[in-house]
Amino acid sequence: MRKKITISHLMEMKRTGEKIAMLTAYDYPIAKLIDEAGIETILVGDSVSNVVLGYPDTRPVTMDEMIYHTKIVTRAVKSAFVIGDMPFMSYQISVEEAIKNAARFIKEGMADAVKLEGTFFETIERMTNAGIPVVGHLGLTPQSASLQGGYVVQGKSYEKAKEIIKNAENIERAGAIMLVLEMVPKEVASIISHRLKIPVIGIGAGPDCDGQVLVIHDMLGLGGNFKFLKRYSNLDTIIKNSVEEYISDVKNKKFPTEEHTFSMPENELKKLIKNYRKK
Ligand code: KIV
Repeated sequence: MRKKITISHLMEMKRTGEKIAMLTAYDYPIAKLIDEAGIETILVGDSVSNVVLGYPDTRPVTMDEMIYHTKIVTRAVKSAFVIGDMPFMSYQISVEEAIKNAARFIKEGMADAVKLEGTFFETIERMTNAGIPVVGHLGLTPQSASLQGGYVVQGKSYEKAKEIIKNAENIERAGAIMLVLEMVPKEVASIISHRLKIPVIGIGAGPDCDGQVLVIHDMLGLGGNFKFLKRYSNLDTIIKNSVEEYISDVKNKKFPTEEHTFSMPENELKKLIKNYRKK
């Protein structure tokens, strides 16, 4: 059995150049499968909001919903390092509230760390001092995408790139254990990955990051179709075809057959038939 992945393990992977694989998970069977497949880190992303719960974007999902999904995932996982994603407005209002909410991910959700978007350096520092490992998230930050001009690449100009690099360094300085970089030019992500000692995990940030993250529904073919995304299966087609075949089997009496059906023992059946025939 694989050992539990720790922060030191992830730091060692960065040091030796072994790439870190991260996927999102929100439910028990998927979390169990990807853990058994050998994934090193699992993010219970606030993407559950739009990917699973049917909200238009990541903002509506609540703390209670995030804790609910985090508990499910950590129940399934034996080895991977699990990160709970702090939902919109659970860490932006005050440092105290942020620490209380982050603590729920660790105490109730049994997560190994929390992730938060943006440049909340003091919050990251205070959480770290309180014993909560924090993962930062820069570049495109979906909770504030409307202020960033929508879902567009961040840091394309020299000035913007410099700002992201400076923020990444400040996040490390504040004590973060890892950084997610979303939709930034590969050149910027490469500089950040080389400058930081903590692992940098990219999504739409090119090949030089220390690891990569994808939303599980996207990579399995159940979700979006973005440029930075690679589909590894087409589960949408598989599920639709299976359901169509099932409907047709039910209507055409091809399911259930004898092999899916239970029968009574012969002597009991005789009694049943005799009794019910009388009536
Ligand atoms: O919520 C999420 O799935 C994320 C990843 C895209 C990094 O934040």
